[in-house]
Amino acid sequence: MSTQNIILVGPMGSGKSTIGQLLASRLNRDFFDSDYYIEEKTGVDIPRIFDIEGEEGFRLRETRALRELTTKSGLVIATGGGSVTREENRELLRNKGYIIFLDTSVNQQMLRLKSDKKRPLLQTDNPRERLEKLFNERKPLYLELADMHVRTDRKFARKVASEIIPKLPSSLL
Ligand code: S3P
Repeated sequence: MSTQNIILVGPMGSGKSTIGQLLASRLNRDFFDSDYYIEEKTGVDIPRIFDIEGEEGFRLRETRALRELTTKSGLVIATGGGSVTREENRELLRNKGYIIFLDTSVNQQMLRLKSDKKRPLLQTDNPRERLEKLFNERKPLYLELADMHVRTDRKFARKVASEIIPKLPSSLL
């Protein structure tokens, strides 16, 4: 069996954590969520990290988390939506895994995230505008990295996982 990591990228609310957990259990791999990993390591939640250290501090912690996680192999890793914005992270992800881009519309993101209080970047008067801006900036980066591109709009996580598995290279199964 190959030990390459399977790494999920995509915007907030695209289903990275839920789909990642399903893939991990079906493929008999360990699952890590980089946001959760950062919170565990830091001992406080992400909004608190943003409050105290700003986005820049969070990004440094995120890079450190990705570096640590990708020293392991054979995992399924869900990344934070902004992890692709740093070249250092893109390089790490590219070299350390098979990358799946979970692509979803801003409408769908709004449905999933409308009452979210855990994402500092959405605590604004106009979260839709923020999501659109972030997606426009980041989509080229997600696409550039993607080994597989999957739309998750209006689909149950189980269905998305069932679509992904047969498309994975056999070396990852
Ligand atoms: C962020 C996405 C979040 C989290 C942080 C910043 C972003 O992760 O890392 O709030 O910049 O898009 P999810 O994509 O898991 O929501």
